[in-house]
Amino acid sequence: MEQTYYEKKEAGEAAVDLIHNKMVIGLGTGSTVYHTINKLGEKMKDEKLDVTCVSTSSNTTEFAKQLGIKLVALNDVQDIDLTIDGADEIDGDFRAIKGGGGALLFEKIVASSSRKVAIIVDSTKYVDTIGAYPLPVEVLPFGYKYVFERMVREGFQPNLRKMGNDPFITDSGNFILDINVSNIIDKVDTINLEKYINNIPGVIENGLFTNIVDVIYIGKKDGVEVKNR
Ligand code: A5P
Repeated sequence: MEQTYYEKKEAGEAAVDLIHNKMVIGLGTGSTVYHTINKLGEKMKDEKLDVTCVSTSSNTTEFAKQLGIKLVALNDVQDIDLTIDGADEIDGDFRAIKGGGGALLFEKIVASSSRKVAIIVDSTKYVDTIGAYPLPVEVLPFGYKYVFERMVREGFQPNLRKMGNDPFITDSGNFILDINVSNIIDKVDTINLEKYINNIPGVIENGLFTNIVDVIYIGKKDGVEVKNR
């Protein structure tokens, strides 16, 4: 089994221990949380666990439905007790970059609505300082060229994410610009950077999660390391 696959599986499954009866759970998106959802499906059957989940993407919704996991809309729950999600990078200051799979908008709304947020990653994604991974920025198709040009002027070296020859479209019908923050991440306050990017007209949300994560599960070759904030 490939090492990163194994580490994702270990971390993803370990985080299921945080889930208890009657909880409302936010389910993230991606290949790591796939293992969480799969394990949760088993746990619900084996332990007759009654949990309600809120999904962050059409892919997660589809998979959770296949397993018979009860899903509700975010607007139909009071609070989310816990969200479990992957990340593209995360560091010791609990700052994450997310959105490699394009689901950052729903992921950030669901995480922000949660009392506790657990991030599950393989060991390659736990880094000294985030920023090597391009930061996904979700933009409205209307006038996205304005945002693109402004990003160019400000040195963010944007790339319009593509699916084949066409722009990649998010679950909300928007585009994604992947921008380079590696040169500035150490020179700025990342909480301000997250706000600054979102303040550009046309930007819907960006994949910086600076002040949301409570616990990190890192899959390693010799087990799972858990870091609490
Ligand atoms: C989805 O848009 C992302 O934020 C994912 O959570 C992130 O890319 C992690 O994905 P993997 O678990 O597939 O690596």
